Amino acid sequence: ESNHLADYLKQRIRTVPDWPIAGVNFRDVTTLFNDPEAFRVMIEAFSLDCTRLAVDVIAAIDARGFIIGGALAYQLHKPFALVRKKGKLPYRTVSEDYTLEYGSATIEINEDACAAGQRVLLVDDLIATGGTLLAAAKLFQKIGAEVAGVAAIIDLPELGGSAKLRDAKLPVHALCAFS
Ligand code: PRP
Ligand code: ADE
Repeated sequence: ESNHLADYLKQRIRTVPDWPIAGVNFRDVTTLFNDPEAFRVMIEAFSLDCTRLAVDVIAAIDARGFIIGGALAYQLHKPFALVRKKGKLPYRTVSEDYTLEYGSATIEINEDACAAGQRVLLVDDLIATGGTLLAAAKLFQKIGAEVAGVAAIIDLPELGGSAKLRDAKLPVHALCAFS
């Protein structure tokens, strides 16, 4: 997106070349989280999306997604649900395997992460291949929830993730993109 908000956020995101492997430009949002004004701008932008999508529950992805999702849930007075890497949740879970830009993994939610029929917004820092958010969407669909949309600070459109998510009928809201 070429807009003021996107440019403002992109200026505050650090790029680390060749991390964690050669050829990957890692988009590091710690610099954005470190800027309190930028953090608030980001949460306000997501809040508008949430209100428009009539979301009941905010769910966020381990680990950087938690920082965004926690602030957003607090701001909107909505329940917060965790999507965690395998083996971290002590209660009964549902799980999904997925692949990402540089590896594969398994994520889980509690089977009571939200009630059937609730509208969930999935939040993460970045969409690369979309594998993580697609797997998270499947988890919430398995427990009978409706995924109202997915929200991320950054889209990497060349990796095809946001297109894949839209093909799966998931509205995608990214605040900026890197090509
Ligand atoms: C990163 C990022 C997203 C995911 C995006 O997390 O925070 O969750 O990759 O990639 P995808 O669109 O190809 O699925 P990572 O798995 O590196 O985990 P971390 O947050 O624990 O570092
Ligand atoms: N996760 C997957 N690809 C990434 C990238 N290029 N930067 C940051 N996080 C990522």
